[in-house]
Amino acid sequence: MDTRGQRLRKQSDAALAFTSSSGPDSRIARHVVAVNMAHMLALLKAGQVGRPTSSRCLRFLLTASSGPRSRQGSEDFHHQLEQDAVDELGVDIAGYLNYGKSRNDQVATAIRMELRERILELARAIALLQGALLTVAEREGTHVVPGYTHLQRAQPVTIGHYCFAYFDSLARDHERLLQAYGRTNLSPMGAAALAGTEVHIDRRSLAGSLGFEAPVGNAMDAVSSRDFAAEAVFCASMAMLDASRLSEELILWSTSEFEFVELDDRYAASSSIMPQKKNPVVAETARAKAGSVVGGLVAVLTILKALPYSYNLDLQEATPPVWRAFDDASAAFRSLAGAVESMKFTKRATESLSADGSTAVSLANYLVRRHGFSFREAHSLVGGLCKAAAEKGVSLSEAVTRGLPEASIRAGRSVSIDRKTIEEILDPSKFAAAIATEGGANPRFVAAEIATRKAELRSGRKAVALLSGLLESSRRRLLKSAERIAREVKSKS
Ligand code: ARG
Repeated sequence: MDTRGQRLRKQSDAALAFTSSSGPDSRIARHVVAVNMAHMLALLKAGQVGRPTSSRCLRFLLTASSGPRSRQGSEDFHHQLEQDAVDELGVDIAGYLNYGKSRNDQVATAIRMELRERILELARAIALLQGALLTVAEREGTHVVPGYTHLQRAQPVTIGHYCFAYFDSLARDHERLLQAYGRTNLSPMGAAALAGTEVHIDRRSLAGSLGFEAPVGNAMDAVSSRDFAAEAVFCASMAMLDASRLSEELILWSTSEFEFVELDDRYAASSSIMPQKKNPVVAETARAKAGSVVGGLVAVLTILKALPYSYNLDLQEATPPVWRAFDDASAAFRSLAGAVESMKFTKRATESLSADGSTAVSLANYLVRRHGFSFREAHSLVGGLCKAAAEKGVSLSEAVTRGLPEASIRAGRSVSIDRKTIEEILDPSKFAAAIATEGGANPRFVAAEIATRKAELRSGRKAVALLSGLLESSRRRLLKSAERIAREVKSKS
């Protein structure tokens, strides 16, 4: 018997090919099987099906769980699985599989189950990059390099300061994903098509048997909403935006113009014509994938826009972009982690600061502390000396030595400072060492900053491992219950 029923004649091949999700459903097939098992167990527990029926259905599902038996011309995997069961067990037995459930609650549940795993996988990949940043900080974190604003040299910072900045934004991405996990980890089962069902099912225990925290409260909301998926893809997008900014930095820093880092050959590609080339392809691909992931977010959001409640087949289109986004993001983070961990800062990065004037604010601060200028007066005076340095093509300390006495008189106070003191005031490593504020770029802060972040990373990883463990044990428990019932009746028959 065809599960399409007697209401409709056969669908046109073109319409079926166009509307079928059989291909993309391979992503959720094992979850669909698990949902069918849990539902059958719930029916049995509620006395809605007999033991022999549930036993035979569960036995079928246990063999089906090794993977989908692909068949052409099916609306989707849900349909195909039930049809396979009917073909194998007969409709008098397999016909109970969908008693009290719909594809609508089933698909929403399966998507949530797959997304739970993808969220945890991405969180692990992000943690890898965080770990790589701490490795760099441990290796070279106290060295002082240029920091930029407007992509113009701004002030000296430590390599660690850069690493911690990126680490902290990734920590928020990680945290955000785990918050989205909480809203994903709710079970739509028992919602049936949209109204709930008169078939008695304990929604709470059914949710628990699939590893969910609780059921989605309202049945119509349960089958209609995909905001959990949109939110998860936003989390992936935000993480990828952070990854793209780091990627851009690696690309810039590895140019001959900057020459701040040397990427490891394993994370670079050559040119087919220019023998000298070493291209930062991992960073470039990650930068581009950020665009694809954001594209996935826009796809999900616009599919949801103005969609009437409850289920519409439009929702089927909102799922594949989610998997693509998570695949791309996880792969990007894994590759970037390797590229970052293996890169080396060059001498040029750490030595190029000496005469570039990026510590000019130290001189202004000195004039405030020692010579009674307000900061704005000192800022203006030092700005004039910077201009003179640029015009004459000399270092700032040279320009200050020559120009300060006269410039200070023009500013209303006579100041002269000897060359050695000026060089000390403008020394980039002294600049960093004098930073007093928490979270600043002082090399002395680096060790403690690494230690707190290592602890943070450990607890983040632990949280992810805990959630993975819960999923794994609920999976095992469900299989065991299904096997027990399947065996029980088999031995009697
Ligand atoms: N293939 C569908 C999806 O992915 C499953 C739900 C279909 N429901 C329906 N009423 N046709 O969303």
